[in-house]
Amino acid sequence: MAEIDLLRLAASQKLTAASQAAKEQFLTPAPVAQLMAEMFETTDLPEISLLDAGAGAGSLLAAFVAVLCQRQRRPKRLRIVAYEIDALLVRYLHQTLSICAAECKLSGISLDFEIRQVDFIEDALRLLQPALFDPATSERFTHAILNPPYAKINLHSKPRSLLKKIGLETTNLYAGFIFTAALLLQSNGEMVSISPRSFCNGLYFRDFRRLFLKTISLRQVHLFESRQNTFCDDNVLQEIIVVQAVKQKKQGARVQISTSFSAQDDFIMSHELPYTDVVHPTDPAQFIRLLPDGLSQRVVEQMEQFSHTVSDLGLTVSTGRVVDFRAQAYLRAVPAADTVPLIYPRLCRLPENN
Ligand SMILES: C[S@@+](CC[C@H](N)C(=O)[O-])C[C@H]1O[C@@H](n2cnc3c(N)ncnc32)[C@H](O)[C@@H]1O
Repeated sequence: MAEIDLLRLAASQKLTAASQAAKEQFLTPAPVAQLMAEMFETTDLPEISLLDAGAGAGSLLAAFVAVLCQRQRRPKRLRIVAYEIDALLVRYLHQTLSICAAECKLSGISLDFEIRQVDFIEDALRLLQPALFDPATSERFTHAILNPPYAKINLHSKPRSLLKKIGLETTNLYAGFIFTAALLLQSNGEMVSISPRSFCNGLYFRDFRRLFLKTISLRQVHLFESRQNTFCDDNVLQEIIVVQAVKQKKQGARVQISTSFSAQDDFIMSHELPYTDVVHPTDPAQFIRLLPDGLSQRVVEQMEQFSHTVSDLGLTVSTGRVVDFRAQAYLRAVPAADTVPLIYPRLCRLPENN
């Protein structure tokens, strides 16, 4: 993985800023890739076929290979299909895959790989055509690992109309990649993807959530507390999450939520929530509520006991910052019947002897 990470850094440095922005080429650092690869539940099958959609320099597939090679029970055969549209990255991908082939040979795994330098969505649609579907010969994968491009797609773009053909209306390419990869999994196949957290709520992603949660069962979600550290070399500041899911129409009873400061953090906090707490069965928007710990869960439970909305109480809310020095005229030193507390959003440490 150290060797592969050097390839990733070299590839990132060669990408022009324009290409990096247009194709959303933020390559996954080795510690994040390793954390993702270790999240797969099942790796002891005799044959594994792995899909990496938007493979970049191959960090994710290499981390997956590293995990397989370390297992006691390894597959006999491994097939990897890597989609990557950028010619420069394809050159690095070849190098990564030949390092993987050497490692697999040492571990007694027969590796066969294919790099497809074509548009993933376009090619996936070809593979998904119902008229061509024959369970014996059609290409379906046991595993998929992905860090898809995060680009926005506008109304009249090609990806938007291609995704419409499989029933998905979305404004962001990453949702298209994740849903399409889920469709390409065989039954009980598994996927691990890293993406912005934005798909969990908001109306733009409602369609995606409905389709995705009907197709695949959510098993684990990993949250990073630090926004800066996940893609530290590329300055990606969005909130990023990792999802692990299994291709089953019925959701499981519970979802594991884990949290760490960054991928290098040895301390991973983890707890399980009933699936119905994560996605409320009656919620038409199917919001995915990710509560990182028991304390947040208790806060939500208390909030749910409130029987009125703020407007029911005749109040309005301003969401801008309230700072005491700009509100001096309203401040009182002593509370009275017509005052409310000014609450500071700050953690304070109590004196030691208190
Ligand atoms: C966010 S990067 C992640 C790369 C790699 N998976 C990793 O984690 O390091 C997304 C990759 O998808 C590629 N890509 C963008 N659009 C694509 C498309 N339509 N088909 C295939 N690959 C695409 C980009 O060139 C880029 O390498």
